[in-house]
Amino acid sequence: MSSMMKLGSATRSHLVRSLARNTFARVGGASACRAYSNGEKSLKERFAEIFPAKAEEIKQFKKQHGKVVIGEVLLEQAYGGMRGIPGVVWEGSVLDPHEGIRFRGRTIPEVQKELPKAPNGREPLPEALFWLLLTGEVPTETQTKALSADLMSRSELPGHVEQLLDSLPRDLHPMAQFSVAVTALESESKFAKAYAQGVSKKDYWNYTFEDSLDLLGKLPVIASKIYRNVFKDGKMGKIDVDADYGKNLGHLLGFENPEFVELMRLYLTVHSDHEGGNVSAHTTHLVGSALSSPYLAFAAGMNGLAGPLHGRANQEVLEWLFKLREEVKGDYSPETIRQYLWDTLKGGRVIPGYGHAVLRKTDPRYTAQREFALRHFPDYDLFKLVSTVYEIAPKVLTEHGKTKNPWPNVDSHSGVLLQYYGLTEASFYTVLFGVSRAFGVLPQLIIDRAVGAPIERPKSFSTEKFKELVASKASKA
Ligand SMILES: CC(C)(COP(=O)(O)OP(=O)(O)OC[C@H]1O[C@@H](n2cnc3c(N)ncnc32)[C@H](O)[C@@H]1OP(=O)(O)O)[C@@H](O)C(=O)NCCC(=O)NCCS
Repeated sequence: MSSMMKLGSATRSHLVRSLARNTFARVGGASACRAYSNGEKSLKERFAEIFPAKAEEIKQFKKQHGKVVIGEVLLEQAYGGMRGIPGVVWEGSVLDPHEGIRFRGRTIPEVQKELPKAPNGREPLPEALFWLLLTGEVPTETQTKALSADLMSRSELPGHVEQLLDSLPRDLHPMAQFSVAVTALESESKFAKAYAQGVSKKDYWNYTFEDSLDLLGKLPVIASKIYRNVFKDGKMGKIDVDADYGKNLGHLLGFENPEFVELMRLYLTVHSDHEGGNVSAHTTHLVGSALSSPYLAFAAGMNGLAGPLHGRANQEVLEWLFKLREEVKGDYSPETIRQYLWDTLKGGRVIPGYGHAVLRKTDPRYTAQREFALRHFPDYDLFKLVSTVYEIAPKVLTEHGKTKNPWPNVDSHSGVLLQYYGLTEASFYTVLFGVSRAFGVLPQLIIDRAVGAPIERPKSFSTEKFKELVASKASKA
């Protein structure tokens, strides 16, 4: 029985309508937007309805309040990685230092509660989060299912990208392979082609939307191909357009366990968006502001995510934990772990998975993953080790006195979950983070094009010029 046959007739006919409509919309553009007979809108239709009012709201807001001073910039901020300077517009999420992230106003527990789930699942579906981030609205189950099917129907890779991935050396870091493959997808860019043909500015969002969904649909295949090529036999299963995104990703990677599939759904949801100033989000936004295609903009963001102070910290955490385990030889006493933490700090290294540029408390993304572990494998020894480190590291970092935030971040917990289910190859972990990040950064790219965001160009000075600026301010004081 085909997977389409397994669906109820109402859902099936809806899906068929949805796929047919989406195919139509892909060639017909914004003008192809129209409602279903049952009144349920597709994501593209809904966005097309919403964004003109949003663009107008932003225009009026700028006109009325454009000259309001919203902050001051200190010299130390210029030399301090621009920490805290309010200069990026990001609609999907806002990060509070003490409360953590809110996706369109919703905390992670609220998102877990409100977003549609898979049948018999309890974790939110990341495709529903994509809808929420783009529109500010929670989609219905039917809308989510249609979006899943739409994304999966776009999953096929062009031959040259498959060949490229097969030709890369196995010891090239999976994140470098990921970035190369996404860059090579530029050949498929509808935005780049439309731009070359002189498409009007008002239609930029439409082609950016199409590229973004095409890219999202292809990422599970790219990620899994890298995983299967580098660590397994290179063989991979097939996409099931009737299954959700997380299930497809899990199966393509080679994991059938329903708990692992649930983990993929949670993982993809919590790693997606963390406001716009972090390296991967800001890079995607910056490169996109030059009207580079979503493929090139996202690949640039992924090159940033690959850094050890950013996404690669999840790999570093695992390597650090393994070394700890090897060195302490089963002695997980608080005193031994405390000593190991101090040895790391005295060696001039950071404790991976701890600290944050904005957060000043335990990352709620850490907490969501910890709760998953407590539900499914509270007695797993590596989880217990992570929990013990959680009890001790904040005290050690506080005594050390350097970091502004001694609490764990998202990367501190993600690896142990993957280890439990047998995805043990830590150098692959940042690729999964990358797939998730697409759900957060692509909505903003579509919004940027829809509201006509300008090319980014902050002002820079040399130290000599900064000295002149400081002297002139001092003389006027
Ligand atoms: C995330 C991170 C890059 C934020 O950097 P930041 O905003 O500059 O952080 P702070 O302002 O607290 O840094 C102040 C000092 O504390 C140090 N520090 C911060 N986190 C630390 C950690 N986990 N271990 C040891 N030292 C740390 C910084 O290196 C810096 O030292 P310096 O003055 O010698 O340069 C930093 O906390 C870090 O390197 N963490 C470990 C890597 C990690 O987990 N990254 C994933 C982030 S989601």
